[in-house]
This record gives sequence, structure tokens and C-alpha cells, in this order.
Amino acid sequence: MDRFEYRDGRLWCEETPAATLAERFGTPLYVYSQDTLLTHYDRVQAAFAELDPLICYSIKCCQNIHLLRLLAQRGSGFDVVSGGELHRARLAGAEPSRIVFAGVGKTDQELTEALQAAVGWLNVESESEMEQLSRIAEALDLQPRAALRVNPDVDPKTHVYTTTGKRETKFGVDLERAAAVFQRYGLRAGQNMRGRVRLTGLHLHIGSPVNDPQPYAESIGRALELIRTLRGSGFMIDTLDVGGGFGAFYVGGEAPAASEYARVIVPLLKDQSLRVILEPGRSIAANAGILLTRVLHTKSSGARRFVIVDASMNELIRPALYDAYHFIWPAEAAGCSPVSRGVQQPHAGLTPSDVVGPICESGDFLAKARPLPGLRRGDLLAVFTAGAYAMTMASQYNSRPRAAEVLVAGAEARLVRRRETYDDLVRAELEPGAEAGA
Ligand code: LLP
Repeated sequence: MDRFEYRDGRLWCEETPAATLAERFGTPLYVYSQDTLLTHYDRVQAAFAELDPLICYSIKCCQNIHLLRLLAQRGSGFDVVSGGELHRARLAGAEPSRIVFAGVGKTDQELTEALQAAVGWLNVESESEMEQLSRIAEALDLQPRAALRVNPDVDPKTHVYTTTGKRETKFGVDLERAAAVFQRYGLRAGQNMRGRVRLTGLHLHIGSPVNDPQPYAESIGRALELIRTLRGSGFMIDTLDVGGGFGAFYVGGEAPAASEYARVIVPLLKDQSLRVILEPGRSIAANAGILLTRVLHTKSSGARRFVIVDASMNELIRPALYDAYHFIWPAEAAGCSPVSRGVQQPHAGLTPSDVVGPICESGDFLAKARPLPGLRRGDLLAVFTAGAYAMTMASQYNSRPRAAEVLVAGAEARLVRRRETYDDLVRAELEPGAEAGA
């Protein structure tokens, strides 16, 4: 399904050999497949078509403007969580009314920018933020549309760091408090809207990745109950944003297809007179990208075999931060086809290897005890499922310039972000500008 495949032991991205890209653009290198990205977007769209939802691709997972532009042209809206992401969305040609601005803490400046850009929805996460938004909207004489993020207290059964919909996380407002927020800020039919934030929506996002549709059913069920109560009290509720969190293939096969999530979600939401918003990120971008990296050295220490590569936790922090699994295999492995895109089990001819980066921390690893074939300095490795939360979480730790990004369409490869230079690393320090009192 994804356009990264081995043919006679060589990895191809669409109609382009991965090794050619590494030679042409250097490593470490993020490689994206245009067809895979758009196919995953189309699948979400087709699966939920009956609801005619607004799909707001979540920029935080993969933010390259050139990729955002492709999605915008496909009709996608965007979920942004900062002024910087809003800036990107606009540069990519996004239609502002198809943008949702979310996040647990927004500055006055960010809210002002969002209101001036006339984004479609502001997702509000606390009473204090409702206060802040009302104040800024009044000063600008605007009536923005808002949705209250509620915490449905549902366990998405994912990593604790990316669990958001359980009680006592920092996100949203508990279901029981939501009614009080609407009492204070909600709108009743026929009420004068002048000078008011139009709080007419609810927002949910329970976690990421959620490899089971059932927690969605539970959280949407709870949100619908709340909507019935609120409507019963005369409040206008016209929007339900169900957030993101759909899974992707890291091991292979673990994520339900978009259609399986839809089978559970669509029946709940049809005929509810609600504008439905979805905020998928990972399920669209994760399998549309890989990270190419070259072996710098191999060595042994005690019983462990280390493969030291030129990518690191800077390029992909997920193994270090969440103990996440990413399939890794040589991009060119003559006579040695990948065992499978699955959890790599010990296998004849393979040696358990720690794939590590050059960063000065023991936490800097891409894989631990991973069965891999014999490797030599200069060999090229592919780290799969690196389209989401890889480049967007990249850092310059140890003063390492961030890697380049390449977008492949068939046999064409286009540099969509150049590799950073040493000058890029120090520019903001050498030109601190007036604010720093220089
Ligand atoms: N909407 C909201 C409000 C979110 O907080 C997120 C992700 C999304 C949508 C998109 O979720 P997705 O469809 O991509 O699962 N860095 C972590 C993931 C953090 C997710 C943060 N929020 C990782 O690498 O696994």
C-alpha cells in the first residue's frame, strides 16, 4: 500500500531508488512519497464521506509547506496549534475558514493572529482561555467561532505521554464542568450575538496513536450525551470536532484502516445535525516518509553490537522518548531481502544490533538489539514510518544542522527543504536584533 518497496533487494520510493536519493541529496535525509501521502488522505476522506466532514490535517506531525500545499489543493483543512503553524498553513495556501486553532495555551498574540486571519474555529481548553478569547475578540470587534475541548475520561490505551483524553491530563475541561462553561459563555437561539464568541462546538482528542476504534465510540457517545443536555437547555451546538489519533503501520498491520474507524464513528454521528471535524495527522503522513541514514562505524562492546549511523535522536526522537519501534533495514541489501515489515525476530544470518546516533547521550538510539544483516561503513539504512513526528520534532542538539527533506513523485525527486548549514545554526545569535538590546 505504501510506495516504499524492495525490488531485488533495493529499496524504491515510487519509481526512484532510495540509494540514488542518498547520493544526490546526502544523508541523513527524509524522503516523502507524494502518492502515499495523498492516498492516505483520500482514504480518510472516502471512509467518512457520508458525514461530509471537514478534514483538518494536523500540521504538527509533518509540516513541510510543500506537503501542506498538496493537501490544501486536495481540499484539506488544517489543525494548527501555534502562530508558527498558522503561518505555515497560510503560506501553503490554506483557506482560513478551514483551519482549526487548537492547543492548551495560546498567547494573546497567537489569538490575535488567529482572529485576524479569520480561522474557522478556535478550540478552547479552559474557562480562563474563554475569558482571554472573549477579551481579545471584543477588542477586535470580531465574533469568532469556538469549540470547547472536553475531556471524556476515556483510556485510548496508548503511551502515557500521548494519552490526552483521560481525567487529570492537562487537556480540555472535564465533562461535568463543560455545562458550567456553556452556562457562562454559550449561546441560546435568538440571543443577541454582538460582541460574543460563538461557542457552539465541542472538541475531543483522546490520544495518539489509538489503534482501536472503540475508545472513539465511547468518547463520542459521552460528547453526544452532553450535546443533548446542552441542546435541551437551549444552547446552540452545531459542531463536533473528534480530533485525530488514527494509527499507522510501524510494525505493520497494527493500525485499523480508515474505513474501520469510520464503521464505528459514522453511524454515531450521522443525522445529528453536526458539522463534523476530523484532525488526522499520523495516519496520513507517517507511512508516507522514511529516513535514510548511512553507517559511520560498527563496533562491539561486551556482548552488544553497535551500528553507529549519521542520523540520531535529533532526526527521530520517538525511540528515545516513547520507546517507539521503527522498522529499519538496509536500503541496498544484495541477496538479503527484508525478513518482513514486522517486528524483526532473530533470524539466521542476522545479528542483534543497537542502531545508534552520534549524539553524546546513551538515550540516542534508533533501535535496540535489532536483528540486522552484516553492515559496513558507508552502507545505507532506511528507517521506516518517519513521515510523522520525525522532522517536526527534530532538533539541532550538539550543533548538528537539521536534515534535508525530499519529495518524490514517480521518478521525480524534489528538494523541499535544504539541509541546514553551520551558518543557519548561528544566524539568530550573530544577528540578535534590537529586542536583545544589541
Ligand atoms: N488533534 C489534536 C488536538 C492533537 O493533539 C493531535 C496530536 C492531533 C490532532 C493529531 O494526532 P494524530 O492523528 O497525528 O495521531 N509526538 C507523538 C504524537 C503526539 C501527538 C500530539 N497530538 C508521537 O511521535 O507519537
